[in-house]
Amino acid sequence: MLDQKPALFEEIQLRNLTLPNRIIIAPMCQYSAIDGQATDWHLIHLGNLAQSGSGMLIIEATAVEARGRITHGCLGLYNDETENALSKVLNACKKYGNTPIGIQLGHAGRKASANPPHNGGTPLTEKQGSWETIAPSNIPFSNDWHRPKEMDLGLMKKVIKAHVQAVMRCERIGFDAIELHGAHGYLVSSFLSPIANRRTDEYGGKIENRMRFPLELFAAMRDEWPSSKPMGVRFNGTDWDDKGLIIEEAVEFAHSLKKLGCDFFDISGGGNSLSRPEVKPGYQAQFAAAIKKATGIPTMAVGMIRDPQIAERLVSDGTCDMIAIARGFLFEPRWPWKAAYELSGKGNYPEQYARANPLLWPQAFPNTPELNNSNHSWEIGAAPHIMVPKN
Ligand SMILES: Cc1cc2nc3c(=O)[nH]c(=O)nc-3n(C[C@H](O)[C@H](O)[C@H](O)COP(=O)(O)O)c2cc1C
Repeated sequence: MLDQKPALFEEIQLRNLTLPNRIIIAPMCQYSAIDGQATDWHLIHLGNLAQSGSGMLIIEATAVEARGRITHGCLGLYNDETENALSKVLNACKKYGNTPIGIQLGHAGRKASANPPHNGGTPLTEKQGSWETIAPSNIPFSNDWHRPKEMDLGLMKKVIKAHVQAVMRCERIGFDAIELHGAHGYLVSSFLSPIANRRTDEYGGKIENRMRFPLELFAAMRDEWPSSKPMGVRFNGTDWDDKGLIIEEAVEFAHSLKKLGCDFFDISGGGNSLSRPEVKPGYQAQFAAAIKKATGIPTMAVGMIRDPQIAERLVSDGTCDMIAIARGFLFEPRWPWKAAYELSGKGNYPEQYARANPLLWPQAFPNTPELNNSNHSWEIGAAPHIMVPKN
């Protein structure tokens, strides 16, 4: 246990939204929607995560048009049916949960029209209901993938409009934050990457040109979103490929996003080619650090961060401002409670679960003498589920 209040459990302000801590639930596709509409799976899955006391829950990549879904099972926000279905889930999460809720809006571009990973992740066949995909250039993701249609200026405008309309729906149903999906080789990412973007017009070539469409898109979305609410972008710090986007280019993109009023960055990597990095805990944090240092914008690191001590170190040493966790939350949906217990942080329990707080049954944690001694940094507040700092 730490003597001081852990950095991971400090609040962070993004415009008018206060995140109670620095632990972010990363977006995770569930492939469980029907015609883009959220189902009871989403209600259970997200409802559960919304009770974890995390700093923010970011809902999975949600397509702004049907063509922008990765699979038939991907979530969408492009008509009244998809809006109503998501609204039902969001209302339940807000009513019973204790975490701010954001959503990742995106478009799968040339990686759309695919089977979900549990069915191989391969491109859909015609028999499986494949559809035409779109991209900056008509180059398939790999040899056996769909050849996408190259976007002309008219189509680029239409796709921007679809994003803006999805932003309007987000505002109507009450999301707290939006993250634009600009990573992993999907549409925005494919414009940024020299692997996927081989255009010879003002939208291709050097990074100033490759980021033109992503910036136009972001500016239009930001313009539609209330100025009180934060909007951020997830993008690659690297394509993990010699021929791909490099960190210096990612930093340039970040500087331009900052000028457009971007409130946070979520730095990931890969997905524009089949090339894969060697992974280990925090393997992408160096890219978050470089972007945070260059811009001063609140930045998340993501990638195999599961150990609370590592998460705490990344935030306390200034590598990043927040950490995003994906698989760790599937494995341990109350990860913030575990981290609070291990680091002496402030666990946030719904009142129905208040009695799970280790401080209320310390005898069950015999290997943590601090819990049984009055010198631990946190104590039980007026109600048993409220922990207040000791001073
Ligand atoms: C089931 C699953 C679904 C995912 N879906 C998305 C997604 O919708 N959008 C996204 O940007 N990343 C997605 N990712 C990537 C994660 O957000 C995260 O960046 C990655 O898993 C590395 O973090 P981790 O090591 O904590 O899992 C997904 C990952 C998993 C495991």
